[in-house]
Amino acid sequence: MSSQLCLIVRAQAAFLAAALVLTLQGCGRAANATDAASAAPRIAAATDIEAGRYLVKIGGCNDCHTPGFSETNGATPEADWLTGAPVGAAGPWGVSYPVNLRLALSTMDEDEFLDLAHAGEGRPPMPWPSLKAMSDGDLRAIYRYIRWLGPKGVPAPAPLAPGEKPAGPTITFVPSMPS
Ligand code: HEC
Repeated sequence: MSSQLCLIVRAQAAFLAAALVLTLQGCGRAANATDAASAAPRIAAATDIEAGRYLVKIGGCNDCHTPGFSETNGATPEADWLTGAPVGAAGPWGVSYPVNLRLALSTMDEDEFLDLAHAGEGRPPMPWPSLKAMSDGDLRAIYRYIRWLGPKGVPAPAPLAPGEKPAGPTITFVPSMPS
């Protein structure tokens, strides 16, 4: 076989091997899809509170729901996490505000929280698809953790419909070309 041909054959073999691995991984994913409704958190943690804390950390919830968190690279003390933000996100949806989850969840029971997450509908930039994709066990862990933190702070402003004028500061989410 010419060396050029060898290269092609080798490349094809590598491609087939890669395709096989991808196919097998695909099988694994399909099997895991049913886990979405499972009751247990999928991460290993000593308690639901630990699991919830971890999921909130890696889920980026503090980036929006905790004032100053992102700006200080996460220096906000845990006692102040998820207390909501007064700066609105303005866009074609109107204005949304990162809800004070410490207060919101204190008046919502666990099943109501699950219903909200399953519906996964609301204004951007809340990552609704991420919440919707979480297993029930993960959602329950997040809920229990936030209830464990307890109510704190003041409610974020109510969302506004398109055209309504906000009373306070907003960040506008509208793409623009460089001038
Ligand atoms: C990019 C910013 C952003 C991130 C990140 C984010 N949120 Fe939100 N969240 C929002 C905004 C804005 C709203 C209000 C949405 C609306 O008005 O429909 C919201 C609303 C919510 C609500 C609805 C509360 C209610 O009472 O209606 C829940 C629950 C929630 N977020 C949980 C979470 C969790 C849990 C995480 C982390 C996994 C998270 N959010 C990450 C911005 C964010």
